[in-house]
Amino acid sequence: QKSAHEESLTETLRWAAKFFRGTLESDAGKLGSIYLAEKRGLSEKTIKTFGLGYAPDAWDHLFTAAKRAGIPQKHLLDLGLISANKQGNSWFDTFRHRVIFPIFSVGGQVVGFGGRTLESDPKAPKYLNSQESKLFEKSKLLYGLHAAKNEIRRMENALLVEGYMDVLALHQAGMTNAVASCGTSLTRYQAKILRRYTSRVLFMYDADRAGQKSMMSGIDILLAENLTPFVIILPEGDDPDSFVSREGREKFLRFTEEKMLSFQDFQIRFFRESGDFAEPDLKSRAIKVMTHTIAQIPDRIRRELYLQELSKKLGLTLSALQELLEKEEGATE
Ligand code: CTP
Ligand code: MN
Ligand code: MN
Ligand code: MN
Ligand code: MN
Repeated sequence: QKSAHEESLTETLRWAAKFFRGTLESDAGKLGSIYLAEKRGLSEKTIKTFGLGYAPDAWDHLFTAAKRAGIPQKHLLDLGLISANKQGNSWFDTFRHRVIFPIFSVGGQVVGFGGRTLESDPKAPKYLNSQESKLFEKSKLLYGLHAAKNEIRRMENALLVEGYMDVLALHQAGMTNAVASCGTSLTRYQAKILRRYTSRVLFMYDADRAGQKSMMSGIDILLAENLTPFVIILPEGDDPDSFVSREGREKFLRFTEEKMLSFQDFQIRFFRESGDFAEPDLKSRAIKVMTHTIAQIPDRIRRELYLQELSKKLGLTLSALQELLEKEEGATE
């Protein structure tokens, strides 16, 4: 249940999204639309579907328009759309010279914004997001879910990626079951949301160290929420956006079909490549991690089955692994 204040904040968010969108379409948005179309290869349809916008390189573009539209300054401040200067006596637009990605609730209401700097502005942080509030809790949202939920249900599979651009490029190429955790750490809450739509998740984070490490911890979180994770390791240096933009839909689909790993094969590969399988000491630690992962699974029989898999894959006796698992089960209770 929303309070009256929250109602009017929602109203203001809707207004701001429309304003950013309108700006992108106007002369003031030229740089933004050139960036999205030419640098990022987004079609008009994608830009429309996801309501993308632009905030020009000005201090009070939105602020002035909001005043004219009779929007209380307090609402803009509460939403972090404007910020105060150090003295606290003047205000300026928070999002400047950035392309704007509105972030929607599952129901399709705008709850906040992400803004990406244009390449021509290397000093600024790459992404800026709306400040956290009751309406906008980034850790509880999945970007793109409002557009992906039906397809996730239909396919019984969600494609889980890191970022805004990954979702946009994938949807544009027809993979409309893609959603993003918006950053690299998946939360329990996000996993719970996914579980409402599917029990299978295809994890496809960036092919850099940060992305691979986040998938290692994300696997535990997905399993704990009764989801079955599969993993795709993209070619070194790629993310889903760069891969699908370069290779196209057919190659993307073939690649995912051929390269899909079970979460256990992914873990083994991760440890092997990190050198953690090179000596018994490290290897035993890695095996503990993998057993800890199995201990996250709520269902006893599934735990048992994955333990058997692990014993086959590693050539270890089941009883040795069972002993480890029991310790882990004790620890998670
Ligand atoms: N992110 C963020 N703030 C940052 C960096 C990243 O909120 N300073 C979030 C964004 O949702 C971003 C995601 O983390 O989309 C993944 O980050 P990254 O891989 O660095 O960016 P890309 O999505 O690949 O963006 P781009 O292709 O535009 O560089
Ligand atoms: Mn990344
Ligand atoms: Mn990218
Ligand atoms: Mn990326
Ligand atoms: Mn743990």
